[in-house]
Amino acid sequence: MRSLPLPLRTARLTLRDFLPTDGAAIEAYTTDPRVTRYLFFGPRDAEAVAEYLEEILASQRESPRNRYELAVVETATDRVVGACDLSLIEPGVFDLGYMLGSGDWGKGFATELACALLEAGFRDLGAQRVISTVDVNNRASIRVLEKIGMRWEAIYRRHRRAKNRWWDCHLYVLGREVWESGTQR
Ligand SMILES: CC(C)(COP(=O)(O)OP(=O)(O)OC[C@H]1O[C@@H](n2cnc3c(N)ncnc32)[C@H](O)[C@@H]1OP(=O)(O)O)[C@@H](O)C(=O)NCCC(=O)NCCS
Repeated sequence: MRSLPLPLRTARLTLRDFLPTDGAAIEAYTTDPRVTRYLFFGPRDAEAVAEYLEEILASQRESPRNRYELAVVETATDRVVGACDLSLIEPGVFDLGYMLGSGDWGKGFATELACALLEAGFRDLGAQRVISTVDVNNRASIRVLEKIGMRWEAIYRRHRRAKNRWWDCHLYVLGREVWESGTQR
């Protein structure tokens, strides 16, 4: 059975499983409306954060494990700066996502962690396709997906209704054959 060899390490970040003691760190960024502006959920209050953490801890015990929702830790300071996830949504297809506290935007962290997750998804989980959907107005995230070599594939009009509005989203994809050819970056 395939699994991610955790923790994953990049030049500046450690991607590790969340711990029961991470609640306050999660609260620091998911209660911020700037962070959740383009996310289908949130901002989360303390109670919702506790439920979310419970859910994540339960997903770590699943076998086979189809969901890797991971803490993003700045290695030098051992500080949780956000979260990222790679989740199996259909056979061979993984969905990639990330969010960071606003104080840590603009440092290249998302690009760095998304690159590592992509690599691990293909190498360790045997992904055939990694996909990500992003609100059409989320310029920073679109830029991250383009920088890591994902390719625009479609636009979903009225993809989802959440937080009292319809969401138009771009679909970005990286196929295994492109990753194997090494031409995505
Ligand atoms: C999206 C997010 C993770 C990006 O994190 P980050 O660490 O700042 O990203 P990076 O620094 O790696 O790269 C951001 C890129 O977007 C660019 N960018 C940022 N804001 C932008 C904007 N409003 N318009 C256009 N480009 C923008 C940056 O200049 C940078 O590109 P560059 O390297 O070519 O200059 C962060 O903004 C975030 O957590 N947002 C809230 C949660 C979220 O929306 N998650 C994604 C859901 S799909």
